[in-house]
Amino acid sequence: MDAFITAFVLRMFPTWMRSVIAPFLPARYRLKNHRAKAEQVLAAKIAKHQEARRRKERGEPVEEEDTLMDWMLDNGNEQETDLAEMSNRQLAMTLASVHTTSTNTASFLFELCAHPEFFPVLREEIEEVAKEAGKDAKVDIRRWHPQLEKMDSFLVECFRVHPPILLSPQRVALQDYTLRDGTFLPKGCRIAFANGEHQMDPAITPNPEVFDPMRAYRKRHSDPDQYDRNQAVLTDVNNNLTFGYGNQACPGRFLGVAEVKLLVARFITEFDFKYPEGKTVPRTLSADENVFFEPSATLLMRKRKVD
Ligand code: HEM
Repeated sequence: MDAFITAFVLRMFPTWMRSVIAPFLPARYRLKNHRAKAEQVLAAKIAKHQEARRRKERGEPVEEEDTLMDWMLDNGNEQETDLAEMSNRQLAMTLASVHTTSTNTASFLFELCAHPEFFPVLREEIEEVAKEAGKDAKVDIRRWHPQLEKMDSFLVECFRVHPPILLSPQRVALQDYTLRDGTFLPKGCRIAFANGEHQMDPAITPNPEVFDPMRAYRKRHSDPDQYDRNQAVLTDVNNNLTFGYGNQACPGRFLGVAEVKLLVARFITEFDFKYPEGKTVPRTLSADENVFFEPSATLLMRKRKVD
């Protein structure tokens, strides 16, 4: 949040003024503290990983968690694995992964409560998939979550109607470049796709104002060629720019989608949800291109009575 606040405030000023304003921002001061804290936490973890690596090299048996940070330490160069740099990267990763995944889980639950007829549909699908997966508690989520096709389709529609970022993907021209239509992009120019508008364009999505959770499901089953498309993890210039596009598309999207589906499956299996009296899908607020649900929005939840 402090990274967002710092960026929002600084962006209001011309570039040359930012270094003058920045020291007076409380959020930036807090950011410095977060970075110092991250370095403290990571220093211990990095030392532990290095020790484990040394022991492995000596052929000793080592029990170690297999984390992304360990992978980054083993594969990064000297500058990338420097403590301050690694701390920044881990914090950036936290920022990239947490706000987006939680916003999408929230939008799923908000839309589901606005369309409660889908509770039984999704619960039935979860039960079927769970039955097929068997009783093995350790069954790999990568095996079962793709089978939740209706839930996946619901999520695609949530992405369309509530994209967490309105301008995606975003790029910087590294050299002068002329697009095919003659538009000239000078070196350093920032460009972005208006994905929010694009996904609400009737030429791209018929009846875009209708929240139609089974859109992607119907498309997938309309033709064998379509089956592998129209999925939440797939970036598609016509259907889904939520995760950006091309070789810089979100590398965390497989994890992000699996997490949302895991959370929603668990939530709706164990709990009933509904809006407080008189409430419906909360309005979204945007700061620059970032979208947030109204922070005061709530849902009622209670443990389900299962016979
Ligand atoms: C549902 C959740 C998520 C959404 C909607 C989302 C969205 C995005 C978007 C729009 C981009 C920019 C892509 C582009 O420029 O083409 C991006 C990049 C990125 N995302 Fe995600 N993301 C999600 C989850 C995650 C998770 C769980 C992680 C990590 C565990 C993650 C890590 C990253 C990273 C590292 C980048 C930068 C990639 C690069 O610049 O090469 N994201 N994400």
